[in-house]
Amino acid sequence: MKKVALIGTGPCGLSMLRSFEQAEKKGHKIPEIVAFEKQSDWGGLWNYTWRTGTDEYGDAVPNSMYRYLWSNGPKECLEFADYSFDEHFGKPIPSFPPRAVLFDYIIGRIKKGNSKNKVRFDTLVTGVTYNGTKFEVLSLDKKNKKIHKDLFDYVVVSTGHFSVPYIPEYPGMYSFPGRILHSHDFRDAEEFRDKNVVVLGSSYSAEDIALQCHKYGAKSVTIGYRHNPMGFKWPKGIKEVFHLDRLEGHKAIFKDGHVQEADAIILCTGYLHHFPFLSEDLKLKTRNRLYPPKLYKGVVWQDNHKLFYLGMQDQFHTFNMFDCQAWFVRDVIMEKIKLPDKLEIEKDINKWVAMEENIKNQSEMIDFQTEYNKELHKFSDYPKIDFELIRNIFKEWEHHKVENILTYRNKSFLSAVTGSEAPIHHTPWETAMDDSLKTFLNQPTK
Ligand SMILES: Cc1cc2nc3c(=O)[nH]c(=O)nc-3n(C[C@H](O)[C@H](O)[C@H](O)COP(=O)(O)OP(=O)(O)OC[C@H]3O[C@@H](n4cnc5c(N)ncnc54)[C@H](O)[C@@H]3O)c2cc1C
Ligand SMILES: NC(=O)c1ccc[n+]([C@@H]2O[C@H](COP(=O)([O-])OP(=O)(O)OC[C@H]3O[C@@H](n4cnc5c(N)ncnc54)[C@H](OP(=O)(O)O)[C@@H]3O)[C@@H](O)[C@H]2O)c1
Repeated sequence: MKKVALIGTGPCGLSMLRSFEQAEKKGHKIPEIVAFEKQSDWGGLWNYTWRTGTDEYGDAVPNSMYRYLWSNGPKECLEFADYSFDEHFGKPIPSFPPRAVLFDYIIGRIKKGNSKNKVRFDTLVTGVTYNGTKFEVLSLDKKNKKIHKDLFDYVVVSTGHFSVPYIPEYPGMYSFPGRILHSHDFRDAEEFRDKNVVVLGSSYSAEDIALQCHKYGAKSVTIGYRHNPMGFKWPKGIKEVFHLDRLEGHKAIFKDGHVQEADAIILCTGYLHHFPFLSEDLKLKTRNRLYPPKLYKGVVWQDNHKLFYLGMQDQFHTFNMFDCQAWFVRDVIMEKIKLPDKLEIEKDINKWVAMEENIKNQSEMIDFQTEYNKELHKFSDYPKIDFELIRNIFKEWEHHKVENILTYRNKSFLSAVTGSEAPIHHTPWETAMDDSLKTFLNQPTK
């Protein structure tokens, strides 16, 4: 029997497990799967922890999510085609759920099956090499301090790429008297109440952490962008200025001459694709982009077709894209999808990379990833989902953010799976301080 190693059980790994489970339900014989997960539970980034730095075994904490994080995109864009929000919660729920609600949804689907017994928890993959016919996978059982060596026919890497922070240095950091942290270690905005906070970056973490700090009572938030400002209509208390030049004592001095007193610097400067466990010939090397090269259909390693990566793209689409990828990979492993020859593979990769390099704005980014998803969807029996509706929702969402960055999360959308309409949340996001599942779901009935 073929043997598959699945590394990581975040949303991508769970999509992979679900895809095999669905094939088995339809009566297909599936390969033996061993999933490795370095945390003690599944769910990846959505499995919140208070910890930063290292865990109780000395292993790096992968989590980058924080308390009070709410979905930054409409849930309708990420809904699973085979397991709707309505099915999970028994009723339509608002479009922008907090972290605990999305975690419950992700876990709810996989919990129904028996995939958990395929996972070795608290087990860190430390080495993967290919010997010409098989992959040798080394793993560390963190609890029992035992190293295991197993042979596999296929390897699926689903270890995420928002866990290892990219940390630049600016002059004056060495002697800055306040706190400097990366968004990876940001956990609770309450910490910055009444503080002057400087946020560096101009992408989603910078945007959301600036808003969080503002919402939870920071005295001021100053965002330093490096290339382009986000340009939202920021509320009083948040401003966006050009690029940090240096720190002098408590002063943050920006290249546009702006000077700001700072108690804390939060580096929202992105993450590294980091695969220390993979041998060089198997290792994806890329920045955060929509189509990392060397991956056929975004998932098959060009130099070894028995190695797959899931979710390595920058992400507008998430959970249902991970599903489309997993269903595709499953069918390559189960030989239902025949890969073309090397030349075709190269041509296809180059075509997508060239298209990505021509993208000029966010709207085209959304179009690109929607087309990618539609392309993958054609290959497998992943259930029908209305990607055109999802494309439109993303574009509307973008407009809502431009209109008012504080209120975009109060909007509602139609499901691309069930067609049902999300209710408006009972409390506007700006004043909703309790992000618990119970409070969120406690929606008054009409
Ligand atoms: C702060 C933040 C907020 C986000 N918010 C949203 C949002 O609102 N909506 C949205 O759709 N997406 C959001 N995302 C995007 C996020 O990337 C996806 O939602 C999703 O978590 C990606 O799933 P994944 O399985 O690829 O990776 P992860 O969720 O990172 O899971 C990877 C798993 O692999 C495990 N692992 C890593 N290395 C090893 C190893 N060597 N051995 C064994 N196990 C290993 C980790 O423990 C982890 O469980 C957010 C990302 C961040 C950083
Ligand atoms: N649910 C939520 O609300 C939420 C919250 C946070 C994050 N997220 C998710 O988390 C993921 C990661 O987002 P991210 O923003 O952390 O990473 P990212 O999208 O990769 O952006 C990295 C940012 O770092 C900036 N940067 C890099 N080096 C810098 C330097 N030396 N000085 C100043 N700026 C620098 C980049 O600026 P340039 O553009 O100038 O290169 C870019 O703006 C996304 O998928 C996002 O959706 C979601």
